[in-house]
Amino acid sequence: MFTQSIQRIENAYDSILANQTSAHLYEGLSLYGEIDLRSFADLIHSVPLSHQDVFADLGSGPGKPTLYTFLATPVQIALGFEWDAARCAFAEQLKNNILNSLEQTTSRQCLFFPHNILKTDLSNVTCAYFDATAFPVPGIIAMSQILDRLPKLHTILSLRPLIGLKKFSLLRRQRVFCSWDCQMAYLYTAR
Ligand SMILES: C[S@@+](CC[C@H](N)C(=O)[O-])C[C@H]1O[C@@H](n2cnc3c(N)ncnc32)[C@H](O)[C@@H]1O
Repeated sequence: MFTQSIQRIENAYDSILANQTSAHLYEGLSLYGEIDLRSFADLIHSVPLSHQDVFADLGSGPGKPTLYTFLATPVQIALGFEWDAARCAFAEQLKNNILNSLEQTTSRQCLFFPHNILKTDLSNVTCAYFDATAFPVPGIIAMSQILDRLPKLHTILSLRPLIGLKKFSLLRRQRVFCSWDCQMAYLYTAR
């Protein structure tokens, strides 16, 4: 199922980009990059997720990790927040392309929002993925404080070490591949 989900996402992504330029993905508000989906799969499958979980990709770009989590884990809701409107619209297109090809209907949800993650209500989120690589230190501190206050959050996956967390401990670090290089991912769990 994991390989099948990755293949489904990569095929849909390639088929969309076969019919349009990818420039709108690269010219956005901030630096563009993606985690390799196989690395993301290794990360997310190390988290015990159930049908009660709400996953959020904080800075979801064109949406691959959000869609992967929706397709390959039991989470009830997979959310992607991305302030670059073009990338968010692409994620929506990718989602529709994939959901239209699925045979089953489901009450589970996969939703993308063109929101600034520093100004978004994340109170229902239980597992957050934060690709903080393009964030300056003050942004990482601000996001760490927001995550530390979320009442239902049990797991944070981050591509940079978070700063000043009080309610979470670092469980482990794991090497991941990204479109720019390979680096560490940091897995935090609620104390
Ligand atoms: C390196 S990309 C990662 C995309 C995706 N998570 C992945 O791994 O494929 C980080 C994304 O975060 C977005 N971003 C940066 N700051 C943001 C903010 N304050 N609110 C929402 N999105 C933000 C950027 O526009 C960019 O698309």
